[in-house]
Amino acid sequence: MKQISALVMFLVILIYSLPAHAKPVSRFDAASNTCRVLSEGPLYWESYAWGEGGKTFKAKCQSCHNGNDKSAPFLWTESKNQDAWNRVFATRYPKCAQDGSWKGISDEQLRMTNDYLWRFANDVAENVCRG
Ligand code: HEC
Repeated sequence: MKQISALVMFLVILIYSLPAHAKPVSRFDAASNTCRVLSEGPLYWESYAWGEGGKTFKAKCQSCHNGNDKSAPFLWTESKNQDAWNRVFATRYPKCAQDGSWKGISDEQLRMTNDYLWRFANDVAENVCRG
């Protein structure tokens, strides 16, 4: 009897520690008025450093925001919190967005860059949106 309850406990702990039980993560994107699911599906991959989001940030944004260019402040995922990153892309307030420096980056690439920065922002709260 004791052995069985120990086994049951073991299984319960095992099941709860599996990634399948990880909470869903999704980001509300104000510009497109959509809920972007990041915990599964294609955006799970794209919102990592090696996905389209991370690659676009590195290749495009960090081509200026790399710490060498004195006029462009160094930027990385933890430079801002989640709301602040969303604001950057929803309003496109930075001067570089207005002066054409974002040209050549498609809207979907920008959304994925936003996903990546949001996901690894400096205050990661596991958000869930419904859309
Ligand atoms: C051609 C160079 C260039 C590229 C490419 C570029 N930026 Fe910028 N960015 C700048 C410069 C220069 C400034 C500072 C403008 C000013 O004086 O206010 C700036 C300002 C900003 C700011 C405001 C500063 C801050 O710390 O809040 C943000 C946010 C920003 N950029 C994000 C981005 C993102 C995201 C991308 C990629 C989608 C990007 N930038 C691509 C040159 C660039």
